[in-house]
Amino acid sequence: MDLGVTGRVALVTAASKGLGRASAVALAQEGAKVVICARGAEALADAEAELGSYTEALAVPADVTDPAVPASLVAAAVERFGRLDIVVANAGGPPAGRSLDVDDAQLEAAVNANLLTSVRLVREAVPHLRQQGWGRICLITSSSIKQPIPTLALSNTARTGLWAWAKTAAGDLFDDGITLNLACPGSHATERMKAIALPRGPLGDPADFGRVVAFLCSEPAKFISGSTVLVDGAHSVGLV
Ligand SMILES: NC(=O)c1ccc[n+]([C@@H]2O[C@H](COP(=O)([O-])OP(=O)(O)OC[C@H]3O[C@@H](n4cnc5c(N)ncnc54)[C@H](OP(=O)(O)O)[C@@H]3O)[C@@H](O)[C@H]2O)c1
Repeated sequence: MDLGVTGRVALVTAASKGLGRASAVALAQEGAKVVICARGAEALADAEAELGSYTEALAVPADVTDPAVPASLVAAAVERFGRLDIVVANAGGPPAGRSLDVDDAQLEAAVNANLLTSVRLVREAVPHLRQQGWGRICLITSSSIKQPIPTLALSNTARTGLWAWAKTAAGDLFDDGITLNLACPGSHATERMKAIALPRGPLGDPADFGRVVAFLCSEPAKFISGSTVLVDGAHSVGLV
């Protein structure tokens, strides 16, 4: 299947490792030009080199939770490639913690990282997408928006807020040719999963997850918007 993204320009944040990197690689393999960011220089250079074997790539060292960074990343993509078509918003996950053990500062940090960062990215990108009447936005969240994980109260809380915002925004954007969806991973074999040591059943392959994200950002996915796509190996048991 031709995903129809050859020559499109994609911005994927938090993408030197794990699910963000896999999403960037999948888009690059489909012919999109890719801009990525992360904080650590070594892994970022490694990811840029891998992407460069498929496409034109730009790696920007940046902390995406800094409120000024989303605007600077969008500007960097447009300056380098002259346009922006696809945004995949990702950020590191918050620390573990049960609901009554997390304090205000931790909640505020999680909302900043896992809600506001995505909102800022979309807000900055939308004028460019609207200008061309075509855009794809995919927010990497978690299966915990469908089935809260008791030990990840920060993640559960921030990401469901993002879901509500995204569902609203999808309706505001669709008539402009812009789709907005959430890709919701269950347990995948990444460094994050090793760090929190919470695998829930068999682990998913990040490369497969990246291909799901690439499909959501594709031409034939034009009628999929406002959706939450679980990629969790049937782990979540609810109907919604
Ligand atoms: N893996 C899973 O099974 C799973 C399941 C559900 C949800 N998720 C969520 O999916 C997201 C990605 O998880 P992952 O497993 O791929 O994590 P990962 O393997 O730890 O990779 C995280 C990537 O994001 C970058 N990053 C982290 N914080 C950043 C920041 N503030 N600014 C810029 N880049 C940043 C990291 O690079 P630097 O550290 O160098 O910046 C790295 O490239 C997380 O939000 C996680 O909670 C993951």
